[in-house]
This record gives sequence, structure tokens and C-alpha cells, in this order.
Amino acid sequence: MAFDIRNEIEKLKKEKNAVILAHNYQVKEVQEIADFVGDSFELAKIGKEADAEIIVFCGVRFMAESAAILSPEKKVLLPVEDAGCPLADTIKAEDVKALKKSYPRIPVVTYINSSVEVKAESDYCCTSSNAVDVVNSIDSDKVIFIPDSNLGSFVQEHTNKKLILWDGHCTVHHRVNVEDILRIKAIYDNSFVICHPECRPEVVEACDIACSTSKMIEEAKKTDKKTVILVTEEGMRHRIQKEVKDKLIVIASPKLMCVNMKKTKLQHVYEALALEQTEVKVSEEIREKALIPLKRMLQIGKRQKQFIGA
Ligand code: 13P
Ligand code: SF4
Repeated sequence: MAFDIRNEIEKLKKEKNAVILAHNYQVKEVQEIADFVGDSFELAKIGKEADAEIIVFCGVRFMAESAAILSPEKKVLLPVEDAGCPLADTIKAEDVKALKKSYPRIPVVTYINSSVEVKAESDYCCTSSNAVDVVNSIDSDKVIFIPDSNLGSFVQEHTNKKLILWDGHCTVHHRVNVEDILRIKAIYDNSFVICHPECRPEVVEACDIACSTSKMIEEAKKTDKKTVILVTEEGMRHRIQKEVKDKLIVIASPKLMCVNMKKTKLQHVYEALALEQTEVKVSEEIREKALIPLKRMLQIGKRQKQFIGA
């Protein structure tokens, strides 16, 4: 019988009691083989709750690291070892220590797009889906927000607290400028434009809404416009078009491609499962410290849900 990589992945998954998680930006084939596809926040929660011994994390390193911090009893595999995030690389633990020295007693909120060492120096974590809620929940009128200054500026627009920002950017979203938005809007008039809050503030201003990757799916379903323009990584097009069949989904610019998110192919998922590589290892000392801000973030998420449900 011919070798069918999808069947082999399914077989190995069952044999090894593994779960495959994929970020919304992954290539179509990887999204399709995954058990769950979602944004950073959803995947962090799903990984923790999954009844599995192995997590194959198809995304970038910081995401797999977050899963390893939250699920020490599971083996977390990152199929492509050098799938990193240039935004996460803009800040090191030493930089956070220096910031805390310059601004004593000011809580540090760290975007999940950061290394485990940076998280270990932080008070709270957040993702793009809960950054505003996390900042607003803190009992302090000043907050250090790292490392994405565009997301920080977005949060600043939605809080009365004063944010101290770090000058980090996502190289993909920061490339897009207002001219790109005006050009695509002129082609598709009468469209709904959704961007990620990692975009520049003036780009956010030129769009209809800024939200996390998974919230984009809800917004694309809700709008009565027939064309939805996405100002985010191009993998989102497939993710949304699959669920929103009656609308045209377009990506605002060819600049919106994250090479790191595109590194993982089906072959790597197969190899990861077959050889149980590359395991993401975090020292217990750092893991315990990094767990605190991540747990606080999940707790805030739970409280918000209770409040909304009340
Ligand atoms: P989400 O948390 O919205 O999935 O975004 C992650 C990311 O890397 C955006 O560039
Ligand atoms: Fe990092 Fe940007 Fe790629 Fe997201 S899209 S993984 S923030 S470089």
C-alpha cells in the first residue's frame, strides 16, 4: 500500500496518545490534520486541558513553550526547532530586570509572544484577545507593557492606566502601512476591514476593527458586507474562508506572510510524532516562575466569563 502521510500521522497520534494543535497562521495542510486550530489563548488553554501524553505544537516556539509551562506532565514537541518569533526576540530577561529597576513596583504585563525567561520576570501574561482585560484588572494606575508597542498602543486607547511601552514589533504586521489599506479598500469598496492589534496605530485607525485571530472569524461571520479584508498573516484566509463560505475573504497585502509560521509542513508533523522531536524543555525553576503570570491570565479569563455569563 502507498505511504499516505496523513494516515501515518493519524496512526501515530492514536498509538502515542498525542494531540496536534495548530495556530491559525499555519499552512492549510497542517490546519487540516490538527485536532484544534486556534489563537494563542485558545491553544494555551486547550493544551493544558487536553487528555493526551504528547502535544505536537504547530506554531512558533513561544507557543510551544507556553504549553510546556502549563502542562509539565506532557511532552511538548515543536516540529521545526527554529520556528521562532522575531517579536519575542526583541526582549530578554535582563531587559525586563532593567525596566523593573527603572520603574520600581510597577506591574509588568507581558504579551504571550515572549520567551519563557521573559515571562518568568513578569507579573501577568496576556494575549491579543485579553490584553485590555488583563491591564484593566490590575490594581495600579501604571503598567509596564512588553514587548509589542503596537499592541501596547492599542491597549492604551482602551484603558485609563498609563502604559510604559517597550519598542518591539511584529515584523510582519508592522510592515503594513495606511497606503496599503487605502489601496485594498479602493479595490474592494463596500468591504469590512479587520486587522490584528499588532498593526501600527494608524493602520488600526484605518480599519473597522482590531482583534485576535480567532475573534476575526466571529467578526467575519457577523458583518453584512460581502467582502472581508484581513490585515493579518495570510494563513487566516484559509481559516476563515472554510467557515464563512458566503463572503469573499482577502488578505490586505502580500507583505503579510510570517516565514516562521510557514516552516511547519506535514512531513515535519510526521517526523515530530515518529521521532518525538523536538521536545521543548524548560528548567523547573524557570517554569515555576513563568507559570505565575500565565495562571493569572487564565484566572482573569475565567472571571471575565463568569461576569459575562452572569
Ligand atoms: P493571536 O494571539 O491573535 O493568535 O496572535 C498571535 C500572533 O502571533 C499574531 O502575530
Ligand atoms: Fe511573531 Fe509576527 Fe510571526 Fe506572529 S506573525 S509569530 S508575532 S513574527
